[in-house]
Amino acid sequence: MIIRTAAELENFVGHQRQNGKSIGFVPTMGALHAGHISLVEQSVNENDFTVVSVFVNPTQFNNPTDLATYPRDEEADIRLLAKAHADAVFLPAVEEIYPGGVEGRNRHEFQLGTAAEVMEGKFRPGHFQGVAEVVSRLFALVRPTRAYFGEKDFQQIAVIKNMVASEGIDVEIIACPIKRADDGLALSSRNALLTPEQRAVAPEIHKALADSVEYARQHSVRATHDTVVEHLDALPFLNVEYFEIVDARTLLPVEEWDESPSVVGCITVYCGNVRLIDNIRYK
Ligand code: PAJ
Repeated sequence: MIIRTAAELENFVGHQRQNGKSIGFVPTMGALHAGHISLVEQSVNENDFTVVSVFVNPTQFNNPTDLATYPRDEEADIRLLAKAHADAVFLPAVEEIYPGGVEGRNRHEFQLGTAAEVMEGKFRPGHFQGVAEVVSRLFALVRPTRAYFGEKDFQQIAVIKNMVASEGIDVEIIACPIKRADDGLALSSRNALLTPEQRAVAPEIHKALADSVEYARQHSVRATHDTVVEHLDALPFLNVEYFEIVDARTLLPVEEWDESPSVVGCITVYCGNVRLIDNIRYK
């Protein structure tokens, strides 16, 4: 079922809820790939009813060119979601999410904690406020039992959890593993923007991260960091924006491996003009 208005969505999902059904929700920005679909499949398995939203949210783009060039393919998305047995697909126009328009909207300052200030928060000012804005609006419409997010956007999950806690929203946030292409590249809608030459180099990002897990056994955090950055920066097209080795819960940098029980390395690399993100678990 395809739904385009907020009123229709609230009505339809409300009806399911009244019938005592559990509701799984997968928010996306479309240009769907197997990573998104893995979230949808998990939701379908774990809930009576699954809603998927496809909305390229203007308020989370700090770069107008990035918003303008963001890939869109509504027809293909609808086909893939039908195949994955999503029960409802929400495809709103901007006014359905931001009544009165993006410029005239009511701004609410979300409390997102320090997790929103580091890494993506530092390099994409306003990005997480925009993510919180759209996800909280979608949560209010869908009122899901569970909502599914990919660990490819590791920091996004931490920020959403903080948003849900500070706003007092009753939903279970489910983190799902990263889906990769056979050559290791994390699936991303942005991969469609790579030239064939860039696409051939892009798997080096995951390879460098995976190799660094072995390297980390014998070397310091700083040396591990530097070897990844130096290796990637030496390759054609690749330019590391940041690589941070952080505590998996606070997302604050660690200086020693034994400082925290769970450590993750989060990276953002420009491949030409395309901004790619990935991460790896050290422990
Ligand atoms: P989007 O980039 O479309 O991603 C939608 C969801 O799919 C996110 O939870 C993301 O982490 C997950 N995802 C993307 N690639 C994945 C992969 N290779 N493996 C597993 N999961 C993957 O993230 C957003 O949209 C937006 O910020 C959104 C939450 C929809 C708010 O606008």
